[in-house]
Amino acid sequence: MYYVDPKVEKLYRIFDQNERKDYLRLDLNENPGGLPEDFVMSVLEGITPQIISQYPETLHFTEVLADYLSTDINHLCLVNGSAEGIRYIIQAFTSPNGRIIGVVPSYFMFQVYSEMYGRDFVKIPYNEDLTMDINNIISEMTEETQLLILLNPNNPMGNVYTDEEFERILHEAQEKHINVLVDEAYHYFYPKTFIKYALEGEHVFVTRTFSKLFSMAGCRLGYVAGWPEGVKMVQKMCTPHNTNAFALRFAEAVIKSPEIQTQLINNFNEGRRFLIDWLDKNNYSHKGEAGNFIFIKPRTDAQKIVDRMKSEKKILIKTYPNVGDFGNCLRVSIGERKYMELFVSALADIDR
Ligand SMILES: Cc1ncc(COP(=O)(O)O)c(C=O)c1O
Repeated sequence: MYYVDPKVEKLYRIFDQNERKDYLRLDLNENPGGLPEDFVMSVLEGITPQIISQYPETLHFTEVLADYLSTDINHLCLVNGSAEGIRYIIQAFTSPNGRIIGVVPSYFMFQVYSEMYGRDFVKIPYNEDLTMDINNIISEMTEETQLLILLNPNNPMGNVYTDEEFERILHEAQEKHINVLVDEAYHYFYPKTFIKYALEGEHVFVTRTFSKLFSMAGCRLGYVAGWPEGVKMVQKMCTPHNTNAFALRFAEAVIKSPEIQTQLINNFNEGRRFLIDWLDKNNYSHKGEAGNFIFIKPRTDAQKIVDRMKSEKKILIKTYPNVGDFGNCLRVSIGERKYMELFVSALADIDR
């Protein structure tokens, strides 16, 4: 009997990645400049035929990562991009029709996976002024809730939580036996982290990625940090040899190169300062406390700007509809200054 899961049939997905190589890509929060070329070449020099022919050796890298995070390997599971880890957590820690709660707007894959597996994703909206009242999160934390998804900082809103707010939420989650997933994809742009709750407590996962500040989105590598029993469950979900040898090599080199990390963050900060100064001088409202992205309220139609940026300027950016006071707005990834100069000159040309 032929069978296709109707949930998968109905699922809406976007597959446009292959058409993007000739564009300045400011739509997916990648680093447009990438890692320094000599650094890339030096890592590639160490690639032998055996590294390519054999299944990847994950133990060594997991130990390097554990050391970097001052933990041990029982608290970590490597994944093929943090999107994979998020999927496994949703699959393993919620049931069919199970209640998942999360703020919106946010990273869309939480809703996609919930739909894929027939989970009930309950949206917690932002206020009109784009702030998040954590009482709205707490009031959705019912006894039936199986998973709470938070982001620190949130994409695309760029908002963050104080320690007091996070601890209040966590206390409630523990009272109600709700597992918590904190997505820290943008951690290195914003150093405050809640990973200690995943490494020292129970029923909290933190997912992280090498795709963002570490500029390795093309390699695909992320990790899930959590309590050992929880991590074991995530490991069981993984496909065999789910990470690749190139990603592990690059990630080890980045982790062991504080000077590369400093260079990446300095380039980013310079680009961010330039962009924000320009937006302020030109009277644009913007929002984005943390993360390598920013919301901009345009003067003219947001979708038309996105379309013209693509067709006339070869620049990809994103639009988000009905975002509180901002209405239909633009979300732009922040990269080093030369890319921000290209973006603002295109915006000045189009948005009038
Ligand atoms: C908030 C958030 N989480 C997770 C991801 C997934 O990243 P990756 O699968 O490359 O690790 C993204 C990607 O843009 C993101 O914005």
